[in-house]
Amino acid sequence: MIYPILTAEEAAEFVENGYTIGVSGFTAAGSPKKVPAAIAAKARREHEAGREFKINLFSGASTNDPTDGELSRAQALNFRAPYQSQPELRKHANAGEVHYNDRHLSEIAQEFRYGFYGKMNIAIVEVQSIDDEGNMVLGTSVGCTPTWLQVADRVIIELNEQIPESIHGLHDIYVPLDPPARREIPIYAAHDRAGSPIAHVDPRKVIGVVRTSMPLGKEEAFTPVDETTRRIGENVCAFLINEMKQGRMPKSFLPIQSGVGNIANAVLDALESSNEIPPFEMYTEVVQDSVLKLLESGHCKFASTCSMTFSHDAMMEFFANVDKLHDKLLMRPAEISNNPEVIRRIGVISMNTAIEADLFGNINSSHVGGTRLMNGIGGSGDFTRNAYTSIFMCPSIKKDDCISTIVPMVAHVDHTVHSVDIIVTDQGVADLRFKDPVQCAHEIIEKAAHPVYRPLLREYLRLCEKKGGHVLMNPNIALAFHSALLSDGDMRKVDFAKFMA
Ligand code: COA
Repeated sequence: MIYPILTAEEAAEFVENGYTIGVSGFTAAGSPKKVPAAIAAKARREHEAGREFKINLFSGASTNDPTDGELSRAQALNFRAPYQSQPELRKHANAGEVHYNDRHLSEIAQEFRYGFYGKMNIAIVEVQSIDDEGNMVLGTSVGCTPTWLQVADRVIIELNEQIPESIHGLHDIYVPLDPPARREIPIYAAHDRAGSPIAHVDPRKVIGVVRTSMPLGKEEAFTPVDETTRRIGENVCAFLINEMKQGRMPKSFLPIQSGVGNIANAVLDALESSNEIPPFEMYTEVVQDSVLKLLESGHCKFASTCSMTFSHDAMMEFFANVDKLHDKLLMRPAEISNNPEVIRRIGVISMNTAIEADLFGNINSSHVGGTRLMNGIGGSGDFTRNAYTSIFMCPSIKKDDCISTIVPMVAHVDHTVHSVDIIVTDQGVADLRFKDPVQCAHEIIEKAAHPVYRPLLREYLRLCEKKGGHVLMNPNIALAFHSALLSDGDMRKVDFAKFMA
């Protein structure tokens, strides 16, 4: 190998205060595991010596504890985009100590190429292999790596020996040209390949290679499906079956997008159990353990993803059976896995989880109470805005009934009524299509809200009716549910009269 072999600490010495860094990966899958922690250690040393040391960090999506966690604990982050899910970084973003910019995941790579964020000093990239010409096989995700390899001045490679050679062929690396030269992305079905299994970097940019042998896959187990999520899954499944029966969805079905977490698991379980849902393809940004099961059973014919977000055990099982999965799975860059043009062309059914939804169909995915960042919008906006049918799901109530996820007005908006077709809770399915705002409100109250909160939501509408309008809204009480949660810890204690005086 022509590249210098470095320790993580030696590699971290190339990173200076104020640098803009791009990391590989999309979720913990494919994120570098050694060098970011070594940069955090350098930051601590610099801070102890009384010197400023912070970096700007870009990724494909969320990363892992050695990256977002360690860098946050070391107070080493100035700016962060486009997504995160680490408790430590969340804490610092909410304290205003990290400038966090929540972005659509499909856009960040092209925005970097357009020059919106200045220059990228160093990219840190986990790979399975790299040859002397700079050809590399990436790891268990693609994220924004192909673009980072183009735009970064210099590149540090983490060569993870745990990634087996058999992963070669599972990537489809395609970077579109930028306007005005861009052409259509040549993907007409979820299983179409558009690019190359190999990523490339100019070898002269490579600072060195850090050899690692870091375990792959999430250690935490997925939360099991419970009664509430099971009902959400069944409601989604029943809705999709009815769409086919009514002729609004082809009988051959359409590709689905599904996220991570127990609601997504419940939906996939329900789809698998149904004998009315034909075998389907997925065009999605992450696949979790349940998708592996679906691929093996044949219920899922093909999964196009950006990342393989498997648990450690599922990852080992995947590697053991990878030869059988080469024609059933591929990983694309985030700007392609989440590409609006492709999502709309192939008719993806999007299924995402909401923090809360309002009576008109606006969705809050990212900020609890309107202020406290949870994670970010991730790919939910990319899919929702362009879906054939966009679905949002959430339990109707939370925290021992103290929180209704259906509120008069969301405290923060990520997805507007114009993009949201269906809201599903454990109570049922609210179909917002072919309805004006007031009709939507009644549909959401009667089909999606929890019975405990229905009288309060009806009362809100009744109070708004006096003022009239196309959208029924009263600014004095629109956030009264949230006020009650803040003051009494319980939305059921909402007192509209207090604000109406
Ligand atoms: N009001 C107040 N608090 C709420 C709330 C609400 N309506 N909904 C959730 N919360 C709180 C929960 O109580 C919990 O707080 P805690 O950690 O202090 O207990 C926290 O927010 C997370 O809620 P939880 O029910 O555990 O969330 P989840 O694991 O089902 O995730 C999202 C839900 C919305 C946070 C998550 O799906 C997400 O980040 N989505 C955006 C990204 C996305 O959609 N990506 C595309 C698909 S991968």
